[in-house]
Amino acid sequence: MNFENEFLPKYVTKTLPQLTEKENEDYQKIKEQIIQLSLNDQNLDLNDKKIKELLNNSNNSPHIQEKLFLDINGYGKINNLLHDDNLEEIMVIGSNKPVYVYHRTKGMMITDIIIKESEIKQIIEKIATQIQRKIDKQTPILDARLPDGSRVNATIPPITPDGSTLTIRKFKKEPYTIFDLIKSKTLNTHLASFLWIAIEGLHILPSNLIISGGTSSGKTTTLNTLTSFIPPSERIITIEDTLELQLPHSHLIRTETRPPNIEGKGEVTMDLLLKNSLRQRPDRIIVGEVRSKEAITLFSALNTGHSGMGTLHANSTKETITRLINEPMNVPNIMINSIDFIIMQKRIYVPNKGTIRRITEVDEIVGMEMDNLQLNKIYQYNPSKDELEYTAISCNAIDQIAMMKGISHKQIIKEFERRKKYLEENMQNDLNITEVQRIINNYYKSNDN
Ligand SMILES: Nc1ncnc2c1ncn2[C@@H]1O[C@H](COP(=O)(O)OP(=O)(O)OP(=O)(O)O)[C@@H](O)[C@H]1O
Ligand SMILES: [Mg+2]
Repeated sequence: MNFENEFLPKYVTKTLPQLTEKENEDYQKIKEQIIQLSLNDQNLDLNDKKIKELLNNSNNSPHIQEKLFLDINGYGKINNLLHDDNLEEIMVIGSNKPVYVYHRTKGMMITDIIIKESEIKQIIEKIATQIQRKIDKQTPILDARLPDGSRVNATIPPITPDGSTLTIRKFKKEPYTIFDLIKSKTLNTHLASFLWIAIEGLHILPSNLIISGGTSSGKTTTLNTLTSFIPPSERIITIEDTLELQLPHSHLIRTETRPPNIEGKGEVTMDLLLKNSLRQRPDRIIVGEVRSKEAITLFSALNTGHSGMGTLHANSTKETITRLINEPMNVPNIMINSIDFIIMQKRIYVPNKGTIRRITEVDEIVGMEMDNLQLNKIYQYNPSKDELEYTAISCNAIDQIAMMKGISHKQIIKEFERRKKYLEENMQNDLNITEVQRIINNYYKSNDN
């Protein structure tokens, strides 16, 4: 084992017990029956009644069922990892190397799985076949989604000369809610109430925002939780490379890009989806990750009165703006103004605590002066106290909302306090994302604003 690996916590996988001779015989028989069934019916899956009956046959030991399940539905050696909800990421880095995982609390870990090239290839083939795509020398990269929603990136040699790789961002069955994020201190109720007013905009002036941060800092997750503040009367369109968002809203159109086929045709880019969404009368456009030409389309839409949110990969507010105004996004300086807030998020490793995720800054884009964008810092993270502090003297976007609504500054502050109290009151309940949505909608109903 490599020297560095000795420092990593170990993730020990459960090994399947060896089957007895009798069990093995039964196992082979059932497997043959299942193969026969699937030959007759190509669309057969493991949830089919006939297969369930075979698997559940009381004579079968649980070991047989487990092994069959892995054989038919499984992803070989990494299958057990896929079923562990404590893992954020599964990482296969090449042939005859250990598989690594990123644990929700323990961070990076090394597993006891060593995987051969043929085994990785088999898993990648399986994933590719499921979504009717190909991975080969001509197209050695595959971006895909597993049936459970997990996001996959796979590569094969020659682009990864040390063997095929797999990076799987596990899909969280129960998505985090705004309350979960407050409890884990990613943000506090102060910022949550602030963003609630901003995102809803008191039904009159919704703010546009970008969540920015490094790889795996939790941008998409924060974006997902913040959508709870979008009122139920709105029509939402989401645009993503790989479906990751799990919005609780019912009036929602989800769209996903498509890579070109083998002949290089049929590509559907983010830009195309975004342009199309503008013909679908959206109230709110949500772009999973802004990274290319679609930025200009998005900003044009925001400049003409649409509301939107998205994530962007950058390490600071300044870098976010630099990325937006340069190649390949090329958004004109003057258009950046249509974004009200940039929220910076970071993944931080703290000894004793493990990995934490924090919103570290919220900046308001207030305008342009001599070609320079003017920023107003609203929130700043204080690492020594591990607290997010409100640092603004005033906030233009919130003042604008009050003005449009015809209420005073004092009244909007009162509304902010009321929402903060409401969030605090509902905090203790362990609610899923749909229930959180209901709580927020109840607030709208009973406060009629
Ligand atoms: N606030 C949080 N607290 C705890 N875990 C979180 C938090 N936010 C995200 N996670 C977990 O971290 C992982 C990465 O989250 P997410 O996909 O939101 O990050 P990202 O910044 O969008 O990543 P990428 O750069 O790949 O797009 C996921 O497994 C997610 O469940
Ligand atoms: Mg993301």
